[in-house]
Amino acid sequence: MNGTQSDSSEAEGRLPGHVAIIMDGNGRWAQRRGLPRYAGHPVGVDAVRNIVECCVQKKIQVLTLFAFSSENWHRPKKEVGLIMDLFIRALGKEARRLHRNGVRLKIIGEREAFSEKLQRRILEVEELTAENRGLTLQVAANYGGRWDITQAAKSLARAVAAGELSPEDIDEASLAGALSFPDLPNPDLFIRTGGEQRLSNFLLWQAAYSELYFTDLLWPDFDTAAFEDALADFAGRQRRFGRTGEQVGDHKAEAS
Ligand code: IPE
Ligand code: IPE
Ligand code: MG
Repeated sequence: MNGTQSDSSEAEGRLPGHVAIIMDGNGRWAQRRGLPRYAGHPVGVDAVRNIVECCVQKKIQVLTLFAFSSENWHRPKKEVGLIMDLFIRALGKEARRLHRNGVRLKIIGEREAFSEKLQRRILEVEELTAENRGLTLQVAANYGGRWDITQAAKSLARAVAAGELSPEDIDEASLAGALSFPDLPNPDLFIRTGGEQRLSNFLLWQAAYSELYFTDLLWPDFDTAAFEDALADFAGRQRRFGRTGEQVGDHKAEAS
């Protein structure tokens, strides 16, 4: 049950190995144009395509996108319905392009809540791209950090009840190993668009040491240049993981 989650980027040139993004601001993008808020979501899909291709080109290993939270079900029925339809269409439409680009697609979240049709579509795209070794694209849908930790606790409790695990052996590694993506590194860079500075129940455990980056740009406006800005900001950060600046070898930052 032990995962291989780790907190440091292996990538060269201080490029993050794993980027996580809260894609926020679609509704306001549409409203500012006098459109109904749900009109922003299809434009958000265009921004997703662009950032995915950017990550492929830069050879970033993992991109995790927050598309629909556990709490987003509380939105007006019509908006939720349109978002679900958009998922189904986007998965169908983008599957081949993702596959051609060597992208492995995974959906994280409680997928049982989705319609049969959407669940089937998800499985098809995951199976089609399962062997790809380029970018791993994780789309978090009906995902919540609290849900993730709760389902991990439940699976450890089941292992204890089955006599396969002793409570004393539960440690951070075993809990991490029961979370949604046990075999991938934790996010190095955590971006939120749309101006809010909160986590909104995204990767609560996995973002413990992520570098946070907030931008006022609304998600449909988050283009390649904006992504480059976030990457450049990340490259200038000093990650200490509890140590001192001297220990991690950046004396410049330590002096300030
Ligand atoms: C993010 O954009 C997309 C989803 C949550 C599905 P929003 O729809 O939250 O956009 P704003 O924050 O209302 O502008
Ligand atoms: C977070 O955005 C969820 C996604 C982007 C999918 P929200 O718009 O739902 O977050 P809050 O409600 O403003 O915190
Ligand atoms: Mg929002």
